[in-house]
Amino acid sequence: MKALRWLRCAPAALIALICASALSSCGSGSPSVLDPHSPEARRIAGLFWLMLALATVVYFVVVGLVLLALRRRGDSSEPGAPDSTAEGRRRTNWFIVIGGLAVPILVLSVVATATVGATRALQEKSGVIHIEVDAQQFWWRLTYPDDHVVSANEIHIPVGQPVELTLTSDNVIHSFWVPQLHGKKDTIPGQPNRLTFTAQAAGEYRGQCAEFCGIGHALMAILVIAQPEAEYRQWLADNAAAPAAPTDPEAIKGQRLFENGSCAGCHAVAGTAATATFGPDLSHFGSRQTIAALTLPNDPDHLARWLAHTQDVKPGARMPDIDLTAAEIQQLVAYLESTR
Ligand code: CUA
Repeated sequence: MKALRWLRCAPAALIALICASALSSCGSGSPSVLDPHSPEARRIAGLFWLMLALATVVYFVVVGLVLLALRRRGDSSEPGAPDSTAEGRRRTNWFIVIGGLAVPILVLSVVATATVGATRALQEKSGVIHIEVDAQQFWWRLTYPDDHVVSANEIHIPVGQPVELTLTSDNVIHSFWVPQLHGKKDTIPGQPNRLTFTAQAAGEYRGQCAEFCGIGHALMAILVIAQPEAEYRQWLADNAAAPAAPTDPEAIKGQRLFENGSCAGCHAVAGTAATATFGPDLSHFGSRQTIAALTLPNDPDHLARWLAHTQDVKPGARMPDIDLTAAEIQQLVAYLESTR
C-alpha cells in the first residue's frame, strides 16, 4: 500500500519538477534553450516541447496502468483470477504487442520524423552575413572576410539578417553553442562546419564552448551582440580601421612596451609594429566588454589583474604569466583601454 501511495504522489511530483525547471529557465537572464530568439532556436525548442508532451502522455498512461494493475491484484487475491485463463493470456499477449511494440514505434517515429525534418531544414539555410569562427584554446577568433575585420570572442551581428558562421579549429574539437540562437555545432580540425541563424531581437546572447577541449574549457564563453543594422555597420567601419594612436603619456609608454615587449610576440594591433596572430587581435580591445572570452569584465582593474595573474585567472590559457612591474602594468592598461 506504501507503493500505491507513492505512485499516487508521482504525477504531482512530475508536474512540480516540470514547472520548476521551466520557471528556472525563464526571466533569469541565463541563456536558455527554452528562451529562443531566432526561428532556428524556436524550431529546436519546439522539438523539446514535442518530446516533453509525448513523454508526459506516456508517463501518465503508464502510471494509470500500474495503478489499475495494483487495484485489480488487490481485488482478485482468490484463486482462478481472470488473467490465468487462456482468454486472459491472449489479452496479455495483445497488450504486450500494442503497448510494448506498436505504441513505442509510433512515438519514436513521430520524434524521429520531427527531429530529422528540423535538422535538415536548419542545415539547408544560408546567410547573407558571413563570419568565420576559429576556435582556439580557449577563445574564439572572429573574421569578417567581406569587411576585413578581425576580432575575438564578441560577435557583432545585425538583427533580422541571416548570419552564416563557418566554424573551424586548428587544434582540438570545440563546440559552438549559443542556446538562444541555435543548437550546438562542433568545430572540427580539417572539416569546416556551417551554422546559420537570424536574431529576431537586438540584445546580447551568451554562449559557451560545449565540448570538453582542455583545462580552459569552462572559461571559453562567447557573446553574440545583435544590433540594429546602422549600429552594426558603424561597428564594422570602426573595426576595419586602425585604432587612433594614444595621446595620454601613460598610454604612449604602454604602446612602446606592447610593441617592444613580449605582447607583440602573440598579439596584433592594426597600424602598429605588433602583427602576430597567435593570440587574439587587440586592435579594438578597449571597445570590448570582456577579457579572455568573457572570463572578466573589461575595465582597468580587471585588466591589471589579468596581466598580473593570468594563469590564476584562467588556468591553462596560452598566455603565460609575464613578469611585469606595477608601473608597466598600468602603462599597458592605459594603452589597451585606449584602443577603440
Ligand atoms: Cu573549447 Cu571546450
